Amino acid sequence: MKLVAFMGSPRKNGNTSKITHEVIKGAESVGIETEIYNLNQLNIKGCQGCMYCRTHDLCVLKDDMEKIYASIKEADVLVIASPIYMWQVTGQVKIFLDRLFAILSTNGDNYEHYGSKVGNKQVIMIYTQGQPAEQVFQNYIEYNQNMLHLFKWDIISNIVSGGNSSPSDILKDTKNMKLAFDLGVSLINKK
Ligand SMILES: Cc1cc2nc3c(=O)[nH]c(=O)nc-3n(C[C@H](O)[C@H](O)[C@H](O)COP(=O)(O)O)c2cc1C
Repeated sequence: MKLVAFMGSPRKNGNTSKITHEVIKGAESVGIETEIYNLNQLNIKGCQGCMYCRTHDLCVLKDDMEKIYASIKEADVLVIASPIYMWQVTGQVKIFLDRLFAILSTNGDNYEHYGSKVGNKQVIMIYTQGQPAEQVFQNYIEYNQNMLHLFKWDIISNIVSGGNSSPSDILKDTKNMKLAFDLGVSLINKK
């Protein structure tokens, strides 16, 4: 079993990184193989809208998404983690999400016919935010979940941690840090 995480904050050791690592630690504690990509450090161009991927398996762009597509293909679990920036995911995560279009199969116009070119995945979304009230961006979080449902992927959790400003504030959010670790551990039962 393999978990691949995508960490979308430019702060390498900030809140988003710390809670993502809790999922990873939990997963590793039960023997799950893990891999993490720090999106901010990678060379990932925005989608060019060329539609090459509608007639080919993958994307025409030659950048770090090539190895990411390969990792996603062999993964069972994907973790996508972002701070909330201006009510949304960071630009780094948005570019990554746009590039997932290359692995979305769109046979026919009907959304029901959409799916994944790379098989089923279990997905954990993690959001950290300054706003202490964790339900404030709920509509947006559901919106992203619906988008990922296009792939027919199984969204197993949306973790939202509020009240984070300094890079270590999340250490005080023991509830969500434990939730993240326990979620990692529980993946072993979802084989
Ligand atoms: C450019 C920018 C925009 C932000 N926008 C929001 C926002 O719209 N809502 C919010 O609750 N927090 C917002 N924040 C706060 C971050 O979401 C929060 O501090 C987060 O935990 C940072 O994660 P990190 O430590 O992993 O970088 C923003 C922070 C920055 C730098």
